[in-house]
This record gives sequence, structure tokens and C-alpha cells, in this order.
Amino acid sequence: MTIAQIESESFLNPLGPPGVKSADPCVMVIFGATGDLTSRKLIPALYNLALGGQLPINFACVGFARRDKSNDDFRHDMEVAIQEFSRTKPVDEKVWKDFKEKLFYHRSEFDQDEGYDSLASLLKKLDATFGTKGNRLYYLSTQPSFFPLIIEKLDQHHLIYDSSKVNDKWSRVIIEKPFGRDLESAEALQKDILLHLHEDQIYRIDHYLGKETVQNLLTFRFSNPIFESIWNNNHIENVQITVAEDIGIGTRGRLWEEAGMLRDIVQNHMMQLLTLVAMEPPASFKANPIRDEKVKVMQAVRPFSEKNMEEFIQRGQYAPGFIKGEPVKGYREEENVSKTSSIETYVSLKLFIDNWRWNGVPFFLRAGKRLPKRSTEIAITFKPAPGFLFDEQLEPNVLVIRIQPDEGISLKMNCKVPGLNAPIQPVKMDFQYGSYFGSKPPEAYERLLCDGMSGDSTLFAREDEVLASWKLFDPVLKYWEKSPPHDFPNYASGTWGPKSSEEMLAKTGNKWRTL
Ligand code: BG6
Repeated sequence: MTIAQIESESFLNPLGPPGVKSADPCVMVIFGATGDLTSRKLIPALYNLALGGQLPINFACVGFARRDKSNDDFRHDMEVAIQEFSRTKPVDEKVWKDFKEKLFYHRSEFDQDEGYDSLASLLKKLDATFGTKGNRLYYLSTQPSFFPLIIEKLDQHHLIYDSSKVNDKWSRVIIEKPFGRDLESAEALQKDILLHLHEDQIYRIDHYLGKETVQNLLTFRFSNPIFESIWNNNHIENVQITVAEDIGIGTRGRLWEEAGMLRDIVQNHMMQLLTLVAMEPPASFKANPIRDEKVKVMQAVRPFSEKNMEEFIQRGQYAPGFIKGEPVKGYREEENVSKTSSIETYVSLKLFIDNWRWNGVPFFLRAGKRLPKRSTEIAITFKPAPGFLFDEQLEPNVLVIRIQPDEGISLKMNCKVPGLNAPIQPVKMDFQYGSYFGSKPPEAYERLLCDGMSGDSTLFAREDEVLASWKLFDPVLKYWEKSPPHDFPNYASGTWGPKSSEEMLAKTGNKWRTL
């Protein structure tokens, strides 16, 4: 096939809403390409896009990393990775054969000027071979401390273009989380990168936003007026958001000791879920109106202060225990973890959103590693019916949006058991993605990479969203730093977290849902 032929084939992004821009021809450069994320998520996502005919035909991908490797080694490693991690199996030989010809490896240190010079020559060659038109999608999947350096080097070597002046080609940078480790460092990072990029070139990834069930939250809320009209403090008693994982921190000990659960999941993924549940309808489904509404929610969350800290937020760390009947280590026994570590692997919190819609409704959030099972869900509990008509205590209606696994939505309601003098019993209406649509939804990274290539930043976090979230949690991080926990480890692996978390809810007569 000639380049002219390749160029004439257009490509529409079928994952997006109608009218979505098509993914442009481009070269994607992954910095930190020998890391876990590349083999577990990024390359399998690209392969699945190719398999579904959703990857631009004019495409190439360069893995940039410090280890010595040839193109063939890289291709071989990626083949193994796809065999293990692709959501579709077995690997389609024909698609893989075609796809692997578009994969290249480039060895360099991140601070080495020659490495960027030779990258520039390689990219030019790829443009000529694959018809990628000078478009660049850079993916920063290195240790966060390298982010500013890589962006600076790319700029110095003219590998990013000034988007206010250059219109015929584009360069965008996807930045993996964490974007900073507190408010100060996030602001500093933002300042650094703005020296080289415009905000419209920065794609701060939060892969939760790419999950099909998370995107469906907006559709569910704003296309079903029966729910939207009761989506407020007149009808809702409380909201619970859970991100439970049965895995521990695995091989990420060094990283986790620097991060902890608040930074890893709560500040980003959970706050994204919270804002989507609580936001007002946006003026349109374009990127900025949606993000504007999300920021307003974050700004309305009642701030944490030293006075209310113990009452509103709990932390935990897992001790040894059992997961699915198998013994597992405690956090402090994990590789590269201090024996006296006070880093949390569990966080739960009670939040209030001080605005008209949510005044007085508690939002309970919990996220933990080594809990009994993997489950991410949002549960909306409605106010009960007035009890005077019935002799028995009625269960409230509960709407559960299951993000993963077993993606779906269920509604619990009361029903009379058939028969004379029969009691009332809660029953469930249950919609399951898998059985209804007949296939597993695509991986979050598929959608997000596709959006990066088509210039749609709706599902990426804007600067003020990230900063508003850090602003909220900064006092917590500071407080925890100066008051280390005395009771760690405080929950056994395979249990639902520390006692203090149960007690926090019990104080207001609530309890965590049983999952
Ligand atoms: C990552 C966190 O962002 O999300 C991990 O760093 C966590 O600690 C993972 O395990 C969970 O992602 P998912 O898609 O499996 O819910």
C-alpha cells in the first residue's frame, strides 16, 4: 500500500458520541516504555484499537526508555504482553503482524540531548514511511520527577510545537498520574510545564474517566429525567462510593511508600466519581462545560480542618490475613516497605457538599487494598417512605451503579411477597452490561488513547480540577504527616478495613453497605 493510499483512508472514532472528531494520523512516543503500564495497558490498548479497526492506519509507536533493547526485543516483549494482558484473546496473528511493524524502540536517558536529536530523526523517518504528518502524541509514563525534564527537552529539540502558531500539525502530551504529590508540587509542576505547552496540549490522564461505566454516569443522569428530578437532598439520604481491591501493593512498595491511598486513589479516581455523581447538568457535553461543573463540586466540598479531621476521615494499613482462603503478607512485610511504615492502604471519609442540591447529604467514600473483594460502586440511598402505613420497618430504595467488575445498575425496591398476610420484601431490578450488550466494554485506555489522538480532552482532568482536589486534601496530608497513626496495622487482610471506619458511620446511624 502506498502512502497516498494510506492517507486517503479516513477513520472515525466509533467510541465517541456522534460528531466526535476522527483520530488523526500520528506517532505516539511512550516515555518509560519498559515499565509495567506500557506492557499491561498501553500496548494492549493500541493492539485492541487496531483489532477493532479504530487505530489510525497512519500510525507508529516509539517506546523511549533507558534500557538497552532492539526493535525486535521490544516487539517480542510486547507480543508476550499482549498475549497475557489483552482483553481479547487469542492474539489475531494478522493484526499483530501488521501492528508490530509500527512499533519501534528508542534507547536514551531522559536528560540526554543526543537521545532527543536521534528521536527527532527517527520521527521524521516514521512520518515519511507511515504518513503520520508530523503529529505527535507523547505519553509520559515515567517516574513523575522526570515529567518537567522530558517536556523541557522535547521543547528544546523542537519536538513540541507552539499550538498558538502551528496549525497544520499537532503535539500533545499525556501525563500519567500522579500530577504532583500535594498542592504545592502540583502547582510547581503546572508552572514548569506551562513554560513549554499550552493547556490545550496537556492531557492529564485519570483512567477512571475512560471506563465505560464512568462515562455512562453522565448519560444515565442527564438522559433519564426520572432520576435527575429526584437527584437531590429532598430525596437522597446518603451516597456511598467504594473502591475496594483485594490485591495488595504488589511490587510497588517503593512507590507506595511515597504515595499511599489518599494520593493513589482518593484524590484522583474517587474525586472524579464524586464530581460526576454530584455535578449540575453542564451547558453542553463539550470538554469545558463539563469540567466547569466538576470544579464547582470540588469547590463546594466542605474543607477538612484539624478540628474535624478525626471525625471526617479515617486511615488504615493492612496486616497479614487471608484473601480467598490464601494467606497474604501484611503491608509492612511487603518488598521495599519500611517495617515501621505509617503509610495508609485504606482511607474512608465523610464529605458534605455545601451547595443547594446537596445540603446535608453525607457522601461516604472508602478505598482500600486487601479488602475481601474487588468492587467499585456508587450507591445512592433514598429517603424511606413514611412508615405509618406499614407495621414493619421498610428498607430504603437503593440505586447502585456498579463500575466494576460485573458492570451494571440495580435498583432495590419493596414488594409484597405473594400470599395472604405476606410480608414486604426488598427486590432488585438489575441491568448488566455483559448480558445486555453481549460483550465486555473496551478498556479505559483504549478510549483515552483514541481521544488523545483525536484531540478530545473531555475525559482528561483540567488544571483547576486537579488543583481543587489537592487543595481539599492538602490539610489532611499535612495533618497526617505531623500526627502519625499509633495503631497501624489496624485491619487484617481480607476484612473490610479498620474499626474506626465503621464507627465513623455509626455515629450518624449509618453503616457501610455489604458488598
Ligand atoms: C491505579 C492505582 O491508578 O488504579 C492502583 O495506582 C489501582 O493502585 C488501579 O490498583 C486500579 O485500577 P482499576 O482500573 O483496576 O480499577
